[in-house]
Amino acid sequence: MSPVREERSAWTRPHLLGLRELSAEEIMAVLDTADSFAEISTRSIRKVPTLRGRVVVNLFYEASTRTRLSFSLAAQRLSADVLDFTKESSSTAKGETLIDTARNIEAMGVDVFVLRHAAPGAATVLARHVKCSVVNAGDGAHEHPTQALLDLFAIKKRLGRIKGLHVAIVGDIAHSRVARSNIWGLQKLGARVTVVGPPTLVPERFRELGVEVCHDLDKVLPEVDVFNMLRIQRERQGTLNFPSTEEYTRLFGLSRERLARAKPEAVVMHPGPINRGVEISPDVADGPRSLVLEQVAGGLAVRMAVLFLCAGRSAALQAEEAQAQAATSAATQGPGAAAQGGSA
Ligand code: NCD
Repeated sequence: MSPVREERSAWTRPHLLGLRELSAEEIMAVLDTADSFAEISTRSIRKVPTLRGRVVVNLFYEASTRTRLSFSLAAQRLSADVLDFTKESSSTAKGETLIDTARNIEAMGVDVFVLRHAAPGAATVLARHVKCSVVNAGDGAHEHPTQALLDLFAIKKRLGRIKGLHVAIVGDIAHSRVARSNIWGLQKLGARVTVVGPPTLVPERFRELGVEVCHDLDKVLPEVDVFNMLRIQRERQGTLNFPSTEEYTRLFGLSRERLARAKPEAVVMHPGPINRGVEISPDVADGPRSLVLEQVAGGLAVRMAVLFLCAGRSAALQAEEAQAQAATSAATQGPGAAAQGGSA
């Protein structure tokens, strides 16, 4: 199937700002489109012309390895031109604001901004100020929609479903945009979600989002189908929110011994970057029950799908409209049209 031909898609949005506002149908539209793009990575020529002539700009105001490279490669596989902006080498150092920077870059003819920023809501604000599409690649502790979409994609691929699964998101929930986006996405697709960690990192108020809150990993261990282990976000915490890293690992780290007490078919995820030996032991991270590299591989297909749905779909439809218009005006300019005074 050619993804460009997918006309019954539930997706009509120009932007991807978060999973909170999406319906289950819209999430499934991304996952289904990603499925068809995943096949491209298996071809000898791993490129399609879907976004040829389109410009994707990575606006990264925060450090990133996976997400930035994954968006760049996804855009390149769709034949878009890709520009990379990093805060350190830009006029931000001279005091230029995000909106000024973006509007100036947009004036060069941009179709999609992929934005990572430390301020929650930055992508939503940007979308109000520019005409092109905006994709949120992480805004503070608010949302990281493509990470959650690729997590859903990886779970669905390995376990065959999302509905009815029990997913434990373990670690620094309070500071995690990955946790928030996962909570919205998983619940919309019918999973049961428990957030697990010390009370300082997993506040009771998370119950308001519809999830269960648990401060004892060993208690939920035997019931869980998917463990999503999150990094301790020292850069957002200021001070450490628990007595010591060793104690955190003892209580909430996923070791081989602990995983042996889980369901035999339970799988383990981590968005990266991993603190090996802290939230997850190396043998679990690299073991057969780990989805870590499948998450990264699927992330490429998911980001291709997101770029296509936000920018390419409208491009494809615009091209079809232009073709249809050209055909109509050619017909009206046929031999009879001139005699009737018809003109284009
Ligand atoms: C996450 C992020 O930046 O929010 N990483 C990622 O995008 N793969 C999680 C993290 O930094 O711990």
